Amino acid sequence: MRGAGRVAFSAETLARARELMAAYPAPRAALLPVLRLAQEEFGWISPEVEEHVAGLFGLTPAHVHEVVTFYHLLHQKPVGRHVLSVCHTLSCWLMGAEGIIAYLKERLGIEEGETTPDGRVTLLRAECLCACELAPMMQVDDDYVGPLTRERIDEVLERLD
Ligand code: FES
Repeated sequence: MRGAGRVAFSAETLARARELMAAYPAPRAALLPVLRLAQEEFGWISPEVEEHVAGLFGLTPAHVHEVVTFYHLLHQKPVGRHVLSVCHTLSCWLMGAEGIIAYLKERLGIEEGETTPDGRVTLLRAECLCACELAPMMQVDDDYVGPLTRERIDEVLERLD
């Protein structure tokens, strides 16, 4: 539910969050999965969402914010319907990640961190996604794709609605 500057989980998401919190000896261990739930519900983690989640856990919003800023998969601003996160860490860098990012920028007509004007795609740069065998690779929403070539990128972009 979205309100005047305040947000709260839907009843269904709140129930899932409580289940997660009950699954750990220390409920705060569920903070990251609950933030993923929050992102599913709200699309990104706004300061209001951080405040709501902090309230659930009895933590300060600053504590939650630190976690949000640490994990690049948690979005701190609105994103498009699809998120492309291109790894640029060592293996991917050696295999041409910079060229991949440049090609995506050219194809999408946006810079890193931006979303296409039609709201279709957000382009992000990511740290190692632990799929170095796919280098150079990117995460497309929940899927890993690689090794990337211009042709493979064209196919991926074609498939996105
Ligand atoms: Fe790119 Fe590990 S360096 S996935």
